[in-house]
Amino acid sequence: MADKLIIFDTTLRDGEQSPGASMTRDEKIRIARQLERLRVDVIEAGFAASSNGDFEAIQAIAGIVKDSTVCSLARANDRDIARAAEALKGANSSRIHTFIATSPLHMEKKLRMSPDQVFEQAKLAVRYARQFTDNIEFSPEDGSRSDLDFLCRVLEAVINEGATTINVADTVGYGVPELYGQLVRTLRERMPNSDKAVWSVHCHNDLGMAVANSLAGVQLGGARQIECTINGLGERAGNTSLEEVVMALKTRKDYFGLELGIDTTQIVPASKLVSQITGFNVQPNKAVVGANAFAHASGIHQDGVLKARDTYEIMRAEDVGWTANKIVLGKLSGRNAFKQRLQELGIEMESEQDVNAAFSRFKELADQKSEIFDEDILAIVSNEAQAEGNEHFYLVSMAQHSETGERPSARVVFTAQGKELVGESDGNGPVDAVLNAIESQVKSGAEQLLYSVNAITTGTQSQGEVTVRLSKAGRIVNGVGTDPDIVAASAKAYLSALNKLYSKAEKLNPQLTP
Ligand code: KIV
Ligand code: ZN
Repeated sequence: MADKLIIFDTTLRDGEQSPGASMTRDEKIRIARQLERLRVDVIEAGFAASSNGDFEAIQAIAGIVKDSTVCSLARANDRDIARAAEALKGANSSRIHTFIATSPLHMEKKLRMSPDQVFEQAKLAVRYARQFTDNIEFSPEDGSRSDLDFLCRVLEAVINEGATTINVADTVGYGVPELYGQLVRTLRERMPNSDKAVWSVHCHNDLGMAVANSLAGVQLGGARQIECTINGLGERAGNTSLEEVVMALKTRKDYFGLELGIDTTQIVPASKLVSQITGFNVQPNKAVVGANAFAHASGIHQDGVLKARDTYEIMRAEDVGWTANKIVLGKLSGRNAFKQRLQELGIEMESEQDVNAAFSRFKELADQKSEIFDEDILAIVSNEAQAEGNEHFYLVSMAQHSETGERPSARVVFTAQGKELVGESDGNGPVDAVLNAIESQVKSGAEQLLYSVNAITTGTQSQGEVTVRLSKAGRIVNGVGTDPDIVAASAKAYLSALNKLYSKAEKLNPQLTP
């Protein structure tokens, strides 16, 4: 039997550290459920000590997820570790992941600690974590830029203290495949107790080599865990993308020879869900999950694929969960059909009241567009979470006027904590006018960093999905809105971003704090 490779997904922790990608508890639960369906081995659900919101999300996920191990990140100190242990209490299987930086640069400039102090703190942290669990992961942050002898000293000590997984972090994406793979190999060969731990790779994508580095860590280095995120979400240029490493390992099993527990047919649904919740669109030419990943445009390729699929396809679209855009429901579909489709999509609503609210949104949408796809249903569920009462700002109605040669104008009615406000303004275009109208009342002064529109299915009947990224006082948030009318979707996205900006949920970023 081939060796098993552990897939450790950190979309909900490292992925969430992307600017603006922060997720609510309910959004995290939806993604965790999908990760469980995908059969990832470990779900890093968050960083419990970073905020109450993160703590509660981890606690909820620990109580819901049964088949995957649930993990929390913790800096190498007692408070963080105790908080992680507390959040994970209800889990079937749990892991504490503790870390401290080991590179000269990070120790001196960021931690302002000597190597001896870091060594002691790493040891004490793992010793303390052992009081709560025997499933402990230790990461030397900025490991790939650390001194080899010092790294060996720290890692040998933490394994002796009981760390069961050692995760060689390429925190800033500095590694190149051969050298990173050799680093993992050298560490394993030099340390007398290296066989007492599973070796793991954690690569960032700053030079576009995260997937290659991770695979080299496995193939050359002998690592048996890969840390990755859906769509490669993560700080700066992101992390190793789950879909790419998984499909590389599967498609080239002849070369890697490793077993994976992943249900690959859940990859595309996971990708769509994460993109929809975070507002980070997937580029069309992205491997495996991009809209063009299986599209053959050239005549020669089309001809080849029609004659024999494997002439130009090394994977089958359906094996990674691509289905032709199927109409799943329509205007005449009843509540039972809707509820069943929710179940088939793995969406669990908390109450019958929530199902009813989503069903009436579905009916409204079916009046606007005759064909309802799975993507529309996912968007309805996300919109419901932003429904009146749940959020600070909520769109009531809007009107806008645009005509060739005239400056567009808009009037938007929305509520702010239940109080109705009416904003009117003009703008460069209808979207600008609508956003200005909202801003004329809210006066947030936030800077707009990004505005993007994406059709969630195909054709002009599709709903538009708009992402707005705002920044204010060092905080960056993404808002997502969907509607068949892209101007209304823009208003929803802007209000959703403002809701996040006005929420009190402040978080610590593990990489920015000692
Ligand atoms: O990139 C990194 O170093 C991390 C650690 C916390 C593992 O995310
Ligand atoms: Zn990371």
